[in-house]
Amino acid sequence: MFSRRNLVALGGLVATAAANPCDIYADGDTPCVAAHSTVRALYSAYSGELYQVKRGSDNTTTTISPLTAGGVADAAAQDTFCANTTCLISIIYDQSGNDNHLTQAPPGGFDGPDEDGYDNLASAIGAPVTLNGQKAYGVFVSPGTGYRIDSGKDVATGNEPEGMYAVLDGTHYNDACCFDYGNAETSNTDTGAGHMEAIYYGNSTSWGYGAGDGPWIMVDMENNLFSGADEGYNSGDPTLSYRFVTAAVKGGEDEWAIHGGNAASGSLSTYYSGVRPDYTGYNPMSKEGSIILGIGGDNSNGAQGTFYEGVMTTGYPTDDTEASVQENIVAAKYAITSLTSGPALTAGDTISLRVTTPGYTTRYIAHTGTTMNTQVVSSSSSTTLQEEASWKVVTGLGNSGCFSFESVDTPGSYIRHDNFVLYLNADDGTKLFSEDATFCPLEALNGEGNTIRSWSYPTRFFRHFDDVMYAASNGGLQVFDATASFNNDVSFEITTGFAS
Ligand code: AHR
Ligand code: AHR
Repeated sequence: MFSRRNLVALGGLVATAAANPCDIYADGDTPCVAAHSTVRALYSAYSGELYQVKRGSDNTTTTISPLTAGGVADAAAQDTFCANTTCLISIIYDQSGNDNHLTQAPPGGFDGPDEDGYDNLASAIGAPVTLNGQKAYGVFVSPGTGYRIDSGKDVATGNEPEGMYAVLDGTHYNDACCFDYGNAETSNTDTGAGHMEAIYYGNSTSWGYGAGDGPWIMVDMENNLFSGADEGYNSGDPTLSYRFVTAAVKGGEDEWAIHGGNAASGSLSTYYSGVRPDYTGYNPMSKEGSIILGIGGDNSNGAQGTFYEGVMTTGYPTDDTEASVQENIVAAKYAITSLTSGPALTAGDTISLRVTTPGYTTRYIAHTGTTMNTQVVSSSSSTTLQEEASWKVVTGLGNSGCFSFESVDTPGSYIRHDNFVLYLNADDGTKLFSEDATFCPLEALNGEGNTIRSWSYPTRFFRHFDDVMYAASNGGLQVFDATASFNNDVSFEITTGFAS
């Protein structure tokens, strides 16, 4: 493969033939030891596996590769494999050749919500984007979701130098511990200060924080998130509001740095570059060389965020190398795309949602007080019942690309999930409520109308089960996640509202 220097030497002949991030790091003598992305190849010559998806209909898997060497993921292959069913991202392959593949994170200091204390896998459809106009899917990490490899090959240990970057969704975050990508413990437990060195993104103020209200890029060094030289507040670490964020972090022998910027334009800024924190345990470092995504070192799994691509390097990359990587990220042209499909909903309309499961097709989504259920409704039902089964479609409270459903008879109350049960609750103005009340309609899994997925938990859909409404996953641990009848139970025909 051409190094970047060769490309420059060849000048106009190869023009801008892409040196991808790991070509650039190699050229700077700080090669990638792990390279993860579900959206594109991170080496210009890479045409191997990017990720594996597992579908709900038969639990079989397939691998997704780039359309061309060095190019964007073949999202159409995923769409075909996952047609009329659900899919999870089961493996994020390491493109570096080191086999540092990320898989479902095991229990550690904290248990995950899935079987045997494992974390959940991400939905394969939670984070659609386009790169240079081609559709691809990122990794949408809901609380409870996490990936890990316990013993990374060639990943820095002890006080060895390393670099890393990740491209993230700057608008998807929370204040729980810890949406991380980077170096962590091999035991999945908290083994003390200095045993981690990972990119953190979110608005936690439990440890460090920066200017404004967050979110911030910080470095998780275990038992502390550092935003600069000091514990706690550092004014140099800004609140970021870009849709696509580049976070670049590095840790050397007695130095470390945070760089960040807009992954869709411009260059990186330095938010910190200097000596190690002057607190016991962080100098020298005691890195262990495992790699985590979406969780804390001890498998704390309350955080949320979205990951598109990221790498770990050996050696301390120069600022110039990181600047060239940022140029390549910008040239990849990350952009948003539609979060919805199937019959279109329009904000302002009043609708009713009819069940399509055979034997239940006279029932509509309704509420009784705060309980969300299905009830038999018709034009001769009482006005009260007709209103209880009518919903005003509004722009999504938590994401304007999706929708929220406001009660017709109780204005100001919306359908939301809480512990994956749907309720009708008054908007309390919190970020959590707005996200719990945001849903993205998709082409129905049974082909009849819409399947309505939760924005914040894309593995979960409006489902009726024993005539009660849930945010259910296809084959999860709760009774209402049963696979039997799933496709029908999550498919609803949108009709003109009874009360409109
Ligand atoms: O350093 C912050 C967090 O503290 C780590 O991610 C976790 O292992 C511990 O709970
Ligand atoms: O429904 C899942 C989660 O349960 C919601 O996000 C939260 O409100 C509750 O803890």
